[in-house]
Amino acid sequence: MIKVLVVGGGAREHAICDAVCKSEDVELFSVMHNRNPGIMKLSKDFKIAKETSVDNVVEFALSKNIDLVLIGPEAPLEAGLTDALREKGIQVCAPTKDAARIETNKEWMREIMDRYRIPGQIKHKSFNDPKEAKKFIEQLNGNVAVKPIGLTGGKGVKVAGDHFSSIEEASEYAKEVIEKKIGGEAKVLIEEKLEGEEFTLQAFSDGKSIFPTPAVQDHKRLLPGDKGPNTGGMGSYSAENWILPFMEKSDYEEGAMILQRVIEALNNEGCPFIGPIYGQFMLTADGPKIVEINARFGDPEAMNILPILKGDFVEICFNMAEGNLARSKIDFERKATVCKYVVPEGYGIKSMTDQPIDVDEKRIIEEGALLFYASVNKRDDKIYTTSSRSLAVVGIGENVEEAEKICERGLKHIKGEHIFIRHDIGTKELIEKRIEHMKKLRG
Ligand code: AMP
Ligand code: GLY
Repeated sequence: MIKVLVVGGGAREHAICDAVCKSEDVELFSVMHNRNPGIMKLSKDFKIAKETSVDNVVEFALSKNIDLVLIGPEAPLEAGLTDALREKGIQVCAPTKDAARIETNKEWMREIMDRYRIPGQIKHKSFNDPKEAKKFIEQLNGNVAVKPIGLTGGKGVKVAGDHFSSIEEASEYAKEVIEKKIGGEAKVLIEEKLEGEEFTLQAFSDGKSIFPTPAVQDHKRLLPGDKGPNTGGMGSYSAENWILPFMEKSDYEEGAMILQRVIEALNNEGCPFIGPIYGQFMLTADGPKIVEINARFGDPEAMNILPILKGDFVEICFNMAEGNLARSKIDFERKATVCKYVVPEGYGIKSMTDQPIDVDEKRIIEEGALLFYASVNKRDDKIYTTSSRSLAVVGIGENVEEAEKICERGLKHIKGEHIFIRHDIGTKELIEKRIEHMKKLRG
């Protein structure tokens, strides 16, 4: 019996746990900060603790004789959880603190791309002097993204047109990032603003080479039609041919090549990257550009790829950890997926917490949809909202249209007075808009 520990309590981690439990002869354990009912049900035992409290997680892993640890979110990577577990001789399929800098230090990520001349790089500079930052913003005509260097839980990046509309405002925010040390350092990263369609390309990495998974498009904005504030992601879709309707196969291949180059660079830097890696790309008129690289699966994007993975997930993870991914037989079903999050009313602004949600699990499954719980708490057989995303429903079908319908049928069995869903995700109308946008850009 292989004992696997999954760290994290969101819908991404529920999907990871689900994939783990499909492997043979596996016992699942988990550590999470919330009481995720989906993960609790799958786990032989679990511990409620902060995922970043390294000592707690290590102690739990040792006490349960864990063979393999998977880590969902980025914060424990930065806290050095992988390193601490490995020191105790426990196998981990996740990057070390040093390798995870590819996500946790945006300045370093851009430096690595420069040093190794990795394609997909964009204009960028970092500053600790607000006046110098302003000069660079002026040079770029205010067409910039202003970014803290470190992690901010997805809330620190501000982009021209979305969050500010003048050089003054952009410079003001850059100054604030420096002075308030937003993201941990008295520094700010200024990047040129990219125009295009975003896509996610996740891959398995064994430190030397990658195996890319189907491309996914997330929807960051809160409201239909991509309006409202940025969120952690309201939902996502993937297509049956593993690329997205607005991209070419060569764009996908370019993205995969860029990720492979990043993995080689990290290996060369003495910090080989083990585990899932996630390239967030902007497909521009000039091809795919790197917006960000994440040291983990995406949330929601993990829910698009793990349910259609063919092959033994736990074995794949062991092979990544052991630097021998080539030993794994990896494939994906030729199916489309649509994932929509149910979030508390007010999410992205001020969430209504502790509101009951009525989930009819049996009916959702009967509709052929999948259900992944996120940041909810279970008390006395009832589900309650927290301030974060509550749960996600995934439809899988022969094409995006069918997957979207299945997802919607599943969502009908979730009821609550204070919940919100972006129903336009995966609809023909929105996808047509993306295709048109890309056509216009490419001329
Ligand atoms: P990040 O936290 O870096 O993923 O940024 C959050 C969001 O800001 C991304 O999903 C993009 O939509 C947007 N963004 C970040 N960097 C840029 C950029 N250089 N150009 C345009 N949009 C960006
Ligand atoms: N899909 C956004 C993220 O996982 O960061």
